[in-house]
Amino acid sequence: MIVSLFFTLLLASHAQTPAQVKSEEELMRESMVSISRQLGVNCTTCHNPENFKSDKKMEFKVAKEHMKITQGLIDLGMDGKKGPKATCYMCHRGELKPKYQEVIPAF
Ligand code: HEC
Ligand code: HEC
Repeated sequence: MIVSLFFTLLLASHAQTPAQVKSEEELMRESMVSISRQLGVNCTTCHNPENFKSDKKMEFKVAKEHMKITQGLIDLGMDGKKGPKATCYMCHRGELKPKYQEVIPAF
């Protein structure tokens, strides 16, 4: 699962002592709460609440792609060691559809 490494890294800033090692399920839940906050959405924006494994929603599919992209940026060195660490928030800024095109003023 691509996601487990990503989430481990996503949550690495909340460093844990060995005594507090969390279950995979807990980590998944925390990372889901975190990405929801970073996008300013609820679980149901991406999930069918009757089946969280379902990948039918467009938002779910895009989120999965963007998790890969975010992990790719971390792997390429945007890992928070010397500078910023790639997160959803970096681009999304608390919005599901971040404005991403430069606004060029018409003089
Ligand atoms: C921005 C979209 C998005 C939001 C919001 C989101 N999720 Fe997810 N969630 C995903 C994606 C994509 C995966 C699949 C990751 C993978 O398989 O690599 C996933 C996986 C999961 C899984 C694991 C399902 C399985 O395969 O066993 C659970 C459980 C889950 N999410 C719960 C939640 C909960 C609870 C919330 C709200 C707190 C939430 N998610 C919010 C996109 C989202
Ligand atoms: C490098 C910048 C960048 C990063 C990092 C990023 N996104 Fe995105 N994301 C975008 C842009 C740009 C859009 C397109 C907005 C639009 O279509 O208007 C978008 C769109 C989406 C959408 C679809 C929204 C819609 O309704 O059309 C989802 C869901 C999403 N991103 C989830 C995520 C998640 C979850 C993460 C973190 C794991 C993430 N993104 C990280 C730039 C990014």
